[in-house]
Amino acid sequence: MEPEQVALFWKGRVGLYAIFRALGVGAGAEVIVPAFTCVVVSNAILYLGAKPVYIDVDPKTFNLATGLLEQTIGPKTKCILAQNTFGLSADLEPILKIAQRYQIPVIEDCTHGFGGTYHGQINGTLAQASFFSTQWNKPFSTGWGGFTAVRDEALAEKVRALEEEMQLPAPGQERMLQAQLWARKNLLSPSLYWPILRLYRRLSNSGIIPGSSEGGELQTTIMPEGYLLAGGIVQAREGLKQLQRWPHIRERRLELAAIYDRTLEKLGLLKLYVPDHISHSYLKYPLLVKNRAAFFVLAEQHRIRLGDWMLSPIHPVEEKWEHWGYLRGSCPVGEHLSRHVVNLLTDLDLTEKEVKRTITFLERYWGEILPFPS
Ligand SMILES: Cc1ncc(COP(=O)(O)O)c(C=O)c1O
Repeated sequence: MEPEQVALFWKGRVGLYAIFRALGVGAGAEVIVPAFTCVVVSNAILYLGAKPVYIDVDPKTFNLATGLLEQTIGPKTKCILAQNTFGLSADLEPILKIAQRYQIPVIEDCTHGFGGTYHGQINGTLAQASFFSTQWNKPFSTGWGGFTAVRDEALAEKVRALEEEMQLPAPGQERMLQAQLWARKNLLSPSLYWPILRLYRRLSNSGIIPGSSEGGELQTTIMPEGYLLAGGIVQAREGLKQLQRWPHIRERRLELAAIYDRTLEKLGLLKLYVPDHISHSYLKYPLLVKNRAAFFVLAEQHRIRLGDWMLSPIHPVEEKWEHWGYLRGSCPVGEHLSRHVVNLLTDLDLTEKEVKRTITFLERYWGEILPFPS
């Protein structure tokens, strides 16, 4: 990828919106989306007057079920979204093959998958276009932020023109982001994780500090004011710093994923699916459990930090799915996974003590874990 093929945005979702616009997604068009996505993806489609068409997911890959793709494509399908869920690289080849037959572009949602590879090529370089997120919990973080990488030169130019049309973040937004980045670096330690997480949630829910999703994005399908922003200077500076740490971050994620793999194997459970031609980046290590709510309570009692990503087929919205065009029951696998998934952490700040505690916890409560499908 050349620099001209990359554009920077205030959030990944804005980059996705720009790709859609560049592709001409608009009223009457349909976009195929895995029913195990983030609501902001559906929003970006709906803001343009287009329609998300949900496709069920493969329980082994957490990405769209390739076997259902051909029957889901219709005359109005304008593009297909493939997703590196939890940092598990998407099995792109069969998706690209089908899409090519129908001459439909594929966008790779690499918001979780920066750094993974497919047949030796890094995620985001095989599909026609891709977008990434650098929000708080993403592979590398600039607080919030995102970028696009577009293979086709003409399309890349259109996305960059849209980026240039967008306003830059206001000085107040930059200062707020800078302050939050400072607080994360200087105040957040594993021992303060629980109280700070609760405080952050309370403040962002009440709108005192901006969260990664503005309240309205989870309640309506109307574009919030100030949504269309390009990336700012604080994000660019932070991104350059974080990229230098990236090899170290990746190495630790792989190491932790290998530990979790071994633990699951020892317990007689299947480990995550990794075909030979794929290298995952393991932003999270998903685990399926019998009763998620009870598992979270147990984990908190044992001071195990867990992730709660993908609580719904259109995470994190748990009701009124019809507002986002999702019909309850239409994608049973996505719904099942979202009822049972929890995420083991693979973050750099996970201490050795926490890792040991997590392993002991899994060994003790292995009866609560559901095996991955074979
Ligand atoms: C699967 C998925 N796609 C897209 C996004 C959007 O990324 P951003 O928060 O940078 O807009 C997210 C966000 O968290 C996500 O989980």
